[in-house]
Amino acid sequence: MLDQSQCERQTYLEIATEAALAAGAILESLWGNVQQIQEKGYAGDLVTEADRQAEAVILAILKRHCPDHAILAEESGQLGNKDNPYCWAIDPLDGTTNFAHSYPVACVSIALLIHGIPAIGVIYNPFRHELFRAATGLGATLNRQPIQVSQTMDLTKSLLVSGFAYDRRETLDNNYAEFCHLTHLTQGVRRSGSAAIDLTDVACGRLDGYWERGIKPWDISAGVVILEEAGGQLSAYDGSPLDFNSGRILATNGKIHTALSQALAQSQDWFQRYTAKT
Ligand code: IPD
Ligand code: CA
Ligand code: CA
Repeated sequence: MLDQSQCERQTYLEIATEAALAAGAILESLWGNVQQIQEKGYAGDLVTEADRQAEAVILAILKRHCPDHAILAEESGQLGNKDNPYCWAIDPLDGTTNFAHSYPVACVSIALLIHGIPAIGVIYNPFRHELFRAATGLGATLNRQPIQVSQTMDLTKSLLVSGFAYDRRETLDNNYAEFCHLTHLTQGVRRSGSAAIDLTDVACGRLDGYWERGIKPWDISAGVVILEEAGGQLSAYDGSPLDFNSGRILATNGKIHTALSQALAQSQDWFQRYTAKT
């Protein structure tokens, strides 16, 4: 029997699911036929009609069910009543570069934050028909089956994932040293091009850890709830509490968290020594 606040979370979970599936259908319908590809900021930061149409359908559903809530949507920015403690964070298409190239790794990511803390997360990947859902205290599922993080204890035996923000050509803090260092230390580091998929892949145990800088609240909010509910650990790079506005996230199965945090801290020194040697 669910208590009142669990019932409320269950209701919002269903609303987020309705919106994610509707947006996923738009992505499927435009797949392989993108006509408008524009750059919106840094070189390579793309937006297509798929991003815009998927966002429009999500906004329509959320406004119908929750007209008073605040919304932070990647393409439309801040909408609704920004003083409302309930705020939806929306990435209508996470993996836009993949989508624009017809590389089938992309998803819809929708979260509800209550007083700034992610409480509901739904991530739908229409290309694999994978629906990840979680609400705080209610567990995490993939296609309605419970999921759990991996049991990998040893960083050297782990498979990781990371990404590179669109400002990577403008800064030396671009994750290149960290990516090389962890590639050297582990069984591998993947780069999917979708932060939301990276978090769900850690949540269901396909991958053991993920880190990234230059990331936005709409990229990670839904994945944070799903990973937490699947038994994972989230923090800043140094292990301190995750700050959604810092742009940095470290997310693991919990067992390799400290080792990955330490390796990230050592990456710049390692990279300098390594490139001086070669
Ligand atoms: C991007 C993806 C990518 C990450 C970038 C994000 P977008 O989001 O999540 O994996 O490396 O930092 O901006 O532009 O595809 O929605
Ligand atoms: Ca994104
Ligand atoms: Ca996006």
